[in-house]
Amino acid sequence: MGRIEFVGVRPILSFDQPVLREKAKKVSRVDTSIQRLIDDLAETMLAAPGAGLAAPQIGVPLRVCVVKGDENQIWALVNPEIVKHDGVQVGYEGCLSYPGWVGEVARYETVVVKGRNRRGKEVRIKSSGFTARAFQHELDHLDGILFIDRLTNLDTLRRVEDLEADEQEAAVAAASG
Ligand code: NI
Repeated sequence: MGRIEFVGVRPILSFDQPVLREKAKKVSRVDTSIQRLIDDLAETMLAAPGAGLAAPQIGVPLRVCVVKGDENQIWALVNPEIVKHDGVQVGYEGCLSYPGWVGEVARYETVVVKGRNRRGKEVRIKSSGFTARAFQHELDHLDGILFIDRLTNLDTLRRVEDLEADEQEAAVAAASG
């Protein structure tokens, strides 16, 4: 008898859950359970809504994440790693596991991320700007790192509602995963 698994939008865990501080495990094979995980991550990210989501955020300690691309395409990556980076960007960033708060984080401006896609095929994705920020944020989640660990300065941590309107817009757009 098969297990009944919940498929679809899953609850997003908050930063105080221990799984969000663990190093996630590598996936050995992209099978149907990983594909289902990817689908759940994508649905959960879209429903939030967010710009990305990592498996530990829904309680699964595996190296899997999804990121929304510039044209609203969804990148799904298994065992992702940054293989190339260039430049620096400094900007506000948020996290679905730390709702309502944003802070200033420095990230690479451009990254090339290598990993396996939903079909288990090796891919390299080059991104810059906001999408590159989202990739770096999600990859951090796989190592138990949260954006609050990377603030340029603790004083930059603030509630989204306390930002100026234009900043708020940018920060909400950057309310990552
Ligand atoms: Ni996050």
